[in-house]
Amino acid sequence: MTSGALTAMVAIVAVVGGPRGGYAATGQSAQLQAVQADPVYGCVVCHADMRRAFVEGIHSERGIACHDCHGGDPAALETAAAHTGDYVGTPDKIGIVQLCGSCHSDPDRMRQYGLQVGQVAEFRTSRHGQLLLGERNTDAPTCTSCHDAHTILTPDNARSRVHPTNISGTCAGCHQDESLMAKYGLSTDQFDLYRASAHGVGLFERKNFASPSCVGCHGSHAAMPPQVTEIANVCGQCHVLVRKAFDAGPHGAAARAGDLPGCTACHSNHETERVAPDAVAETCVECHDPDSRAAQLGVEAEELIVDAERDLHAADEAIEELVAAGWQVSDLRFRYQTALTDYLQIAEFQHGLDVERVGDLSRRVGSISRDIRATAEGSAERTWEHKLLLIPVWFLTLSAIVMGWFKLRRLKE
Ligand code: HEC
Ligand code: HEC
Ligand code: HEC
Ligand code: HEC
Ligand code: HEC
Ligand code: HEC
Ligand code: HEC
Ligand code: HEC
Ligand code: HEC
Repeated sequence: MTSGALTAMVAIVAVVGGPRGGYAATGQSAQLQAVQADPVYGCVVCHADMRRAFVEGIHSERGIACHDCHGGDPAALETAAAHTGDYVGTPDKIGIVQLCGSCHSDPDRMRQYGLQVGQVAEFRTSRHGQLLLGERNTDAPTCTSCHDAHTILTPDNARSRVHPTNISGTCAGCHQDESLMAKYGLSTDQFDLYRASAHGVGLFERKNFASPSCVGCHGSHAAMPPQVTEIANVCGQCHVLVRKAFDAGPHGAAARAGDLPGCTACHSNHETERVAPDAVAETCVECHDPDSRAAQLGVEAEELIVDAERDLHAADEAIEELVAAGWQVSDLRFRYQTALTDYLQIAEFQHGLDVERVGDLSRRVGSISRDIRATAEGSAERTWEHKLLLIPVWFLTLSAIVMGWFKLRRLKE
């Protein structure tokens, strides 16, 4: 390296204001970026591996440089001289929260990017934050445990450790660690149960991004287990109609009083599945006396739901048979959709324990289904009529061929 290049380097750094000062002014950030890409930027001369990781991330893209986080003199090309002044080296886990917060909690800096500034404040309220900042216990995660230190990517980047399909693996990094979790008396099965649940299958296999990852229920920076009285609200963020019906019924009142753990009483928190129609009544007797009115209600509800499911299934089969026989079924499919909507509403009202409404809907599904099946049978009969009608046609065709053949032979003779 020539001394000319070094002088130029020092000049550029002087222009951008030196350590920690310069990145904020936008006109200068392009210059800084040039500096940082320049192999004579002191820090990366010696820390080439960090540069490789860093340039892939969002901070590098925005012209932030090594010394904005680590301090030191980026113009120096010798260790002692580089690691001087406000050089902080590697910040510890608590120092990292302060470091990230120095920009991310500053509305003046973040406004231009439309970014929220609440991450540190939220983190402080989380179990993680209480453990790290309150109890100074470094088993807790800090910002870089979930975001990485250098390759920090936006959450919508599929390679980001906080992307919806990756974040549960990031949480599992600690929450599946038996020896770590044993210290806090926490189980390590959340990830495995979640992955096999309706939500895990929805997110990972069906790529349904409306399905929650760990943070969909716990929050990311504010991660906490919901209180008993909060659970219905957590699930209700997405299952709006079920929650509305649930709130209106006696179980909603019991949940608000803290006597019933909301939705997880019947669906579990991590192993979330729909309750099978023929298992409804047995759910009720887990809490209610088998001779109680509540248990009786469960038996009635189960019968109605099982009927509705059977009728819906029969209608679906009838339509599929017609499709196989080559019939137009768009009208029947439309009617099937009406039955399906009613069927889905049953699940809603079942949560309010409104068995009367469940009965109305179940009977409507039954009547639409009978209608569809009657139409289908009619069509099937007509299929046979068609086939019978075809017999004379075949007969005539065959006779024509035979007669033609005789005529041909006679002509040849
Ligand atoms: C001449 C080579 C050289 C230059 C230039 C240099 N470093 Fe270092 N750096 C080292 C060496 C060697 C180590 C490991 C030994 C040590 O910790 O001093 C190190 C360690 C570090 C560490 C880890 C310290 C720890 O606590 O483990 C950080 C962070 C760091 N450097 C940041 C920087 C930054 C920021 C710059 C630019 C302002 C810079 N370095 C410039 C050679 C250099
Ligand atoms: C956004 C802030 C930020 C920027 C910018 C940044 N670092 Fe770091 N760096 C950190 C944090 C935080 C750590 C602590 C390690 C961790 O949490 O994994 C760290 C750790 C390090 C270490 C110690 C690595 C180790 O494994 O012990 C070195 C060396 C280092 N950084 C160099 C650099 C260099 C060189 C650049 C510029 C290319 C840079 N850093 C840019 C935040 C930053
Ligand atoms: C010197 C100021 C500064 C520091 C220190 C800093 N950031 Fe940033 N961060 C930014 C800027 C500027 C952006 C770019 C915002 C944008 O373009 O959306 C950003 C973007 C991000 C993003 C992506 C946000 C998005 O959705 O666009 C994440 C995540 C992030 N930073 C995390 C961290 C973490 C973790 C730390 C601490 C290790 C940290 N930042 C330290 C300034 C900083
Ligand atoms: C337990 C994991 C975890 C920790 C610890 C964590 N984050 Fe995040 N962070 C996430 C997730 C997940 C997202 C994606 C968006 C979301 O779900 O909120 C995110 C998003 C972000 C974003 C993008 C903007 C936004 O709010 O959506 C910024 C900036 C950010 N985090 C900064 C930080 C800072 C600063 C810290 C340290 C106080 C931190 N994060 C600690 C998991 C974490
Ligand atoms: C660096 C390790 C680490 C990572 C990563 C991590 N956690 Fe934790 N988490 C802990 C530790 C340690 C505790 C124990 C705190 C306690 O109970 O005192 C904890 C506690 C919790 C609790 C409270 C449990 C209770 O009943 O006290 C929840 C909820 C939680 N974490 C969710 C998450 C989620 C969601 C993620 C990912 C977004 C995550 N954690 C990522 C280490 C981690
Ligand atoms: C972030 C939104 C969201 C949250 C929060 C949420 N869910 Fe879900 N849930 C979904 C989505 C989306 C599906 C459908 C997934 C798929 O199959 O693709 C689903 C599926 C289900 C199913 C299976 C439905 C079926 O027909 O198979 C049940 C049961 C369920 N959730 C209950 C709950 C409970 C209980 C909670 C709270 C502990 C909860 N959900 C929290 C979005 C959410
Ligand atoms: C559908 C919502 C939902 C999802 C998704 C979810 N949780 Fe939970 N989680 C809960 C609820 C609700 C509780 C509180 C249970 C209680 O108090 O009975 C809880 C409790 C916890 C606890 C406290 C200890 C325990 O097991 O009861 C930890 C730790 C935890 N969750 C971590 C995670 C992790 C890690 C993930 C992702 C792999 C995750 N959770 C996904 C709803 C969810
Ligand atoms: C007392 C037990 C119980 C409680 C408490 C409960 N559910 Fe259900 N849930 C069921 C049963 C039984 C079914 C199956 C009913 C059916 O197939 O019609 C079901 C079905 C579901 C379905 C699938 C049906 C659909 O519409 O896709 C979702 C989603 C659901 N419940 C969410 C919730 C939510 C959210 C809460 C809390 C607000 C909750 N459940 C509370 C028993 C319960
Ligand atoms: C996790 C326990 C639990 C399960 C499971 C459960 N309940 Fe309840 N139920 C309660 C609690 C708690 C109350 C409120 C206190 C009370 O009135 O007994 C309640 C109240 C009721 C009430 C109003 C009061 C009454 O006794 O008439 C009805 C009706 C009822 N439940 C029906 C059902 C039906 C039907 C099922 C099955 C689909 C069911 N419950 C499943 C706990 C449960």
